[in-house]
Formats: sequence, structure tokens, C-alpha cells
Amino acid sequence: MQKDLNTIVADVREKVPAIKTRAEFEAYKATISGPKGVLTDVMKGIGKVPKEDKPAMGKAINEAKMAVEAAFATVIEGLEAAELAAKIGPAIDPTLPSPDPARGTLHPIAQVREEMVELFRRIGFSVAEATEVESEHYCFDALNIPADHPARDMQDSYYLPDDLSVNNVSKEGDEKYLLRTHTSTVQIRTMLEEKPPIRIVAPGRCFRRDTPDATHSANFHQIEGLYVDKDVTLLDLKATLDHFVKTIFGPKAKTRLRPSFFPFTEPSYEMDFFSPDLGKLSNKWLEIMGCGMVDPEVFKAVGIDYRVYTGYAFGMGIERIAMILQGVDDIRYYYQNDVRFLKQFA
Ligand code: DAH
Repeated sequence: MQKDLNTIVADVREKVPAIKTRAEFEAYKATISGPKGVLTDVMKGIGKVPKEDKPAMGKAINEAKMAVEAAFATVIEGLEAAELAAKIGPAIDPTLPSPDPARGTLHPIAQVREEMVELFRRIGFSVAEATEVESEHYCFDALNIPADHPARDMQDSYYLPDDLSVNNVSKEGDEKYLLRTHTSTVQIRTMLEEKPPIRIVAPGRCFRRDTPDATHSANFHQIEGLYVDKDVTLLDLKATLDHFVKTIFGPKAKTRLRPSFFPFTEPSYEMDFFSPDLGKLSNKWLEIMGCGMVDPEVFKAVGIDYRVYTGYAFGMGIERIAMILQGVDDIRYYYQNDVRFLKQFA
């Protein structure tokens, strides 16, 4: 019997490597461990073995069974791997260049943002970023917007729950977190980190509790600009913004600064421009941004000596510029992700 067992195990070990399909495997397995299989036969024979030989025989059968099962398991493993490989198809080399041209394009807002950032980069501005969640200090106080200023009203700001903890933004006492309402926050964060000369633009997402309509969205984008150095004057601001407008809207565009008020600039202006080739919008003054000379109170908040340094700042909505450039008359088109709309700017 031991001899039979050895033959069976040897036969199994010899045959299984050649098995190629599950059907072949099942058929072969039946001849070994099926109801009429040779191993089953030997096992049934144990009844006739003399009592004293039974333990040794039982052990031998067990060992043979384990050897056979191990051999079968390898076959199954091989078959499964082959089936999976057939499903996946031939191996690919991910380092080969893609034969397809890239699909998709930058979103129209991103296109205009890139165009604006690139323009400022060419005249020496670098790009700065900061968090979209802010504390009231960075969004308002440090920008000389006092606690009772209407910009803090619950109506136009998204405040976050008091018990929220934000790892990378600190706040003090009963100060609140909120989603930043403008990119002017980046002015403060940059001036706290860098020493003048500072020349940055900061593109980014802003949030306000505006009722959405054709020109307002609760989530929109701005680009902030800041230049701080010795002897920066209003003339520098005007020249830079003229260059911006003429590059974006064409050399025939004219600009004007209209006196205005922002708590963080003094004097403050709204900048309008006028262009003869803008379709329906031609030959009208269009307001496009707020700007001015950095208020000494802001310099005090960030520890820059206002007797040594001066600076200018500006901030504008990217959607507003995009709508004028792209002839879009409803801001909501930008957020609906309708490919028929998006494809027009491919
Ligand atoms: N932060 C202002 C707003 O969201 C825009 C602005 C005005 C930014 C004047 C400036 C500035 O940097 O100087 O309405």
C-alpha cells in the first residue's frame, strides 16, 4: 500500500505541470481523489489493514493526501494567473509615449488666470498662495477692516463652526474661522514672511454669501497684487495697471483711476477701462478692479516700517475679466461644466 501511495504521488507530481485548462484539471483530479480515484481507493482499503499497521498506514495516507493537495493547489494558482493575464491582456510599457493627443483643455477661468499670472510674471512678480480657510484677523483686522465693518456681516461671509480646529491656520480667543472673502489675505501672509522688496500676485478662490445671479457667485476667483519697496509711488501703480489692461484688452484700451475707499489702501481707487473693440461692451467705461497705496495701518499690522517703505496693492475678480474677454454674459456658465460651453474655449 505504501508503494501504491508513492506511485500515486509521483504520478501526480509528474502529470500536473502539463495541465493547461480547468477541464483537464478536473478530469485528472477525478482519477486521483474523485469517488473512483486511485487515492480514494487506497483510503477505502484501510479497513482491511491489520490493526497494528493502522496508525502507520493512516499517517502515510495523510502525507500522500497533503502532497497531492499541494500539487493541485499549484495547478489552480497557475490556472488563475493565466486566466487573469488573459483578461488583462499583454503587458504594457508605461514609459512609452502616449500615441493619443492629450484630451481636454484648461477651464476658461484657468486660461484667463494663467494669462494674467504670466503677464505679471514677465514684469517681475512672483506667485504667492495662502489658505482658503482664514481667521478673522488675516481676512479683516490686519487689513484695517474693523470689527463693525459691513464686510464682516454674517450676510456676506461663510463663518465656520467655533469648535472647528484647522491645523495650519491659527486663531486667538473667540476669533472665528471663515472662508476668505478676498485674496487680500495673501498680502498679509506674504508681508509677515518676506522682507521688502516684495512683488507678488496671488490668484485664488474666494467665497461670499452672495445670492447667485448673472454676475455673482458664492465661490469666485480673484487675483491680488502687491508691490512693497522704497519709493513705490502711485505712478508705478498706474503704469503697471496700464500695462496690464493694454496687454489683456489691446493697445487701444484706455484706463482711469476713480477715487474710492478700501480700508487697506490710502488713497484708494477703482480702476476702469475703455476699449473701442469689445463688441457690445465697446466704448463704455468698465470697472475692473480695486487698488491703491498700502495703508500705513496695514504695514503696522505686519511689522514693516511705513516710514521707510511704501507700496501699492490691487485686486480683481478673474471671472469679471474672463466674462469681458470671452464675451460671456452669465457667470453661472463657468460652473455648470457643460462641455458644449467649455469646448468653445478649447
Ligand atoms: N479686496 C478687495 C475686494 O475684494 C479688492 C481690492 C481692492 C484689493 C483694493 C486690493 C486693493 O488689493 O488695493 O473687494
